[in-house]
Amino acid sequence: MTSEALPGWLDNPATPFDPSFQTPLPDRSLSHIVRPVKIGNVVLPNNLVLAPMAGVTDGTFRLLCSRLGAGFTVSELASARAITYRSRQTIDMVRFQAQARPYAVQLFGADPETMARAAAIIDELNICDIIDINMGCPVAKVVKTGAGSALMKNPPLAAEIIRRVRAAVKVPVTAKFRIGWSETTINVKEFARTVIEAGAQAITIHARTRQAGYTGTAQWQHLEGIKEICGDIPFFANGDIAAAEHLIELHRRTGCDGYMIGRGCVGKPWLFAELLGHSMFSSTALRFKIFRHQLIDMMMEHGPAAVPLFRVHLFGYLRNHPHSAKLRHALCNERNPSVVIDTGRDFFSGALQTSTAD
Ligand SMILES: Cc1cc2nc3c(=O)[nH]c(=O)nc-3n(C[C@H](O)[C@H](O)[C@H](O)COP(=O)(O)O)c2cc1C
Repeated sequence: MTSEALPGWLDNPATPFDPSFQTPLPDRSLSHIVRPVKIGNVVLPNNLVLAPMAGVTDGTFRLLCSRLGAGFTVSELASARAITYRSRQTIDMVRFQAQARPYAVQLFGADPETMARAAAIIDELNICDIIDINMGCPVAKVVKTGAGSALMKNPPLAAEIIRRVRAAVKVPVTAKFRIGWSETTINVKEFARTVIEAGAQAITIHARTRQAGYTGTAQWQHLEGIKEICGDIPFFANGDIAAAEHLIELHRRTGCDGYMIGRGCVGKPWLFAELLGHSMFSSTALRFKIFRHQLIDMMMEHGPAAVPLFRVHLFGYLRNHPHSAKLRHALCNERNPSVVIDTGRDFFSGALQTSTAD
């Protein structure tokens, strides 16, 4: 595919996944920053990663972002315990019928034995290239079991989980964590050393504490010096990355090997294509096609639940509208996919008005 050829999947959703789009274009400004990277024996065609986001990065969004160039995607966090019970719902959540690769399933849990058994089950299903361990989730329900970011308060247990999972699977094992539990207990450097010594084959660090949740500004200064600890192990920076200048600054300050993007691509999945050097997605007609494609794919993945689940993406697409707050209010209970598609068409054509706008 040349840089400006229209991707076939936009008109025909049955078009097979084309990995060539994930290769960064040779002639582009970020060529020293956006490049392939290897995790264990898995080659990522580029180092732009779609962050795991529960309730957001379903199979449709993972495939969409891969099609738009993300070099790697990660599932929403999945309960290791539920997987060992062979929960249909959990396994379906991490397995999508047309999953693009490379792809990681992310597991959470605090019991090394359960984590190892769940990882082995996922590995046997052959649905992913990498297993990622969640050590950053701030949600009370998760941390009260000792999982997620609570593991940052228990480095020996985190290390044991990594060792046991690595011993149980053939695929590489990675860890995603934060800079610490609270502002007074920032331990990101020691923690990075611990998980790498235990065998983590890549790390991703969200530059916030558990205490900060998703608020405030990511504290990139705490990512400085991490690469020196990692040696050859790839280090992915995460937190508030939404534009080329963020990659440039993080690269300069931290020498990181890759960039994980979360909220910055919700309602803007073409961000990956732009960072790879593609310019065609500045077209609002193409952006509308992407919007419509996503909703239709979600209807196939989720059935009647698709429109409510799409809402977070819809509000992402609409976020720069001058009356976005009124639109959110007007659309927050909308369940009719035709209304949502018409709203998107009007928005991208510049014709979207709100009846209460003035
Ligand atoms: C709605 C939502 C759900 C999330 N779910 C997960 C998750 O399942 N696993 C995980 O490791 N991180 C999760 N995160 C954290 C993101 O992966 C990422 O670390 C965080 O949003 C910071 O990146 P950003 O500033 O680019 O969004 C979630 C974040 C959001 C906003």
